[in-house]
Amino acid sequence: MQKIAVIGAGTMGNGIAHVFAQHGYAVNLIDVSAAALEKALQTIGKNLDRQVSKGSITEAVKTDTLKNITTHTDLDLGVKTVDLVVEAATENVNLKLKIFQDLDLHAPANAILATNTSSISITKIAAATKRPSQVIGMHFMNPVPVMKLVEIINGYATDQKVTDAIVELSRKLEKVPCVVNDYPGFIANRILMPMINEAIISLFEGVAGVEEIDTVMKLGMAHPMGPLQLADFIGLDVCLSILQVLHEGFGNPKYAPCPLLVNMVTAGYLGVKSGEGFYKYT
Ligand code: CAA
Repeated sequence: MQKIAVIGAGTMGNGIAHVFAQHGYAVNLIDVSAAALEKALQTIGKNLDRQVSKGSITEAVKTDTLKNITTHTDLDLGVKTVDLVVEAATENVNLKLKIFQDLDLHAPANAILATNTSSISITKIAAATKRPSQVIGMHFMNPVPVMKLVEIINGYATDQKVTDAIVELSRKLEKVPCVVNDYPGFIANRILMPMINEAIISLFEGVAGVEEIDTVMKLGMAHPMGPLQLADFIGLDVCLSILQVLHEGFGNPKYAPCPLLVNMVTAGYLGVKSGEGFYKYT
């Protein structure tokens, strides 16, 4: 694989484009918004500067990485000659189904179509295409340039050769691939989100305050961030929507989102991106 298209220039999309480009792949970064593409290039530049100042990459690697990225607002053109598409658009089922229908029409017949979805069924996304055996989950973690894991999710019809290719590719990106099957929340969010929800329930029930809950988990369990800070970092709306997928998918009340989380999202307190969640960001 040489040429990659990344759909969506948000936090995950720009991180994924950054990592592929840094490892020598030609990346077409695609977004409907030219302003979002411009902002993504600035973010990638800043994150590369951070890596240069830490000495983990050279100035020459930074220059080559930026050279490897071409931006497109036109999906058809951007995916026309690629070997792999990694979709990282907004987490919305109907949007993703429409994107995959378009990708199926415009990407080369042998191209692999991957999605970075954190919770939507890979099998469902694959069923929107005429090549379900070439559709797979490639779930990166935020911040993508730092986090080592790629959770690879096999849909019901994913071909083993496709899985093997994505495993090998992840290793070339210096990531550690983990292959899992397509059930709600896969593994990462099936385990992470109930922990975050339990932290919010503990706060809601007055068992402890925000700082105490996060400190217990940071210092007691060596987590880099406490669960409430991590929820702010991920986005409370994203946490809520993943919990709803778990709740509906398994039909088990243990996954019911805490009413405090629902209220905070309804009120627009989404965490870092809105300026306030469990903490204030100014
Ligand atoms: N690009 C490049 N480098 C970055 C970066 C970025 N966007 N963000 C941080 N870094 C680098 C820093 O330069 C620093 O590098 P060195 O180790 O070489 O010094 C390193 O990462 C650590 O960063 P900081 O010193 O600024 O801050 P920190 O030590 O507090 O670490 C963190 C920040 C890596 C985000 C850490 O707090 C952490 O690991 N948090 C948990 C992250 C996590 O759990 N992510 C998964 C979220 S769930 C998800 O993504 C999936 C989903 O479906 C919801």
